[in-house]
Amino acid sequence: MEKYVVIGNPIRHSLSPAMQNRIFQELGMNAEYNSVLIEEDTFETEIKKLMDSGVRGFNITTPFKERILPFLDELEDLAAASGAVNTVLKKENKWYGFNTDGKGYLEGLEEIRSITKEDSILITGAGGASKAIYLALTTHTDAKITVANRTAEKAIEMTKDNNHQALTLEEAEKQLADFTIIIQTTSIGLEASKNKSPISLANVKRGTICSDIIYNPAETAFLKEAKKNGAITQNGLPMFVNQGALAFEIWTGIKPERSLMKEAVLEQLGGN
Ligand code: ATR
Repeated sequence: MEKYVVIGNPIRHSLSPAMQNRIFQELGMNAEYNSVLIEEDTFETEIKKLMDSGVRGFNITTPFKERILPFLDELEDLAAASGAVNTVLKKENKWYGFNTDGKGYLEGLEEIRSITKEDSILITGAGGASKAIYLALTTHTDAKITVANRTAEKAIEMTKDNNHQALTLEEAEKQLADFTIIIQTTSIGLEASKNKSPISLANVKRGTICSDIIYNPAETAFLKEAKKNGAITQNGLPMFVNQGALAFEIWTGIKPERSLMKEAVLEQLGGN
């Protein structure tokens, strides 16, 4: 039996096992995917134990995407550039690190339409998820990219090596009508009690694509306001499914059926 896991903390609510096991079952593969809680204090010992346990590959989620790096032999380009790994494969006794978050996001976005050099994209947030998406967009598209963040220095740091632009959230809010795509990556929408968007969408143009990487809740305050103003909206479910599908392909060489993976996730979420 081939063993795969996802590690993180917290990990109990991860939807990856349901999503990956659906595909293993569908393909009749003798493989199993489980979640493993790792404590931050004992990460080094626990990760070594896991890597010696016969596991063939694993996913890594918060807060260990950077801490895994010293345990790997080689990094794929996007993982090296972002300094963060979400997928690991063992091959001929070597450990390879990948980052499928950014590419997964881009595949989801391109389910709406392809991205061209006419696009001007705003990313709100400058944390790990933002960086992965920024790298995928700068690597795979010709769009003009602007990063806006509460802590403006982080946005400046992220964009300084190329021709892209950094703004404060307030500046971005005023210039909102200039963007054809707005990507929300901050964690603010996760807190249902706050029910807030990092920027007001009052100036968004009708038909702008507004995309949030959060999928639970299915519709954040950002997406609600975007929809009200006539934007085309997308939540984080396509990104989640596609990052998982790309990981599956890295492990098995098989392109999995994304609609089945999505179905498995929606079942876990209660069909919303
Ligand atoms: P992730 O890995 O999910 O990207 P992260 O690296 O902790 O998480 O980044 C969180 C992002 O959400 C950051 O851009 C953070 O802004 P700061 O860099 O200023 O901290 C942003 N964020 C979190 N809470 C926010 C809030 N209440 N308003 C605006 N931005 C917020």
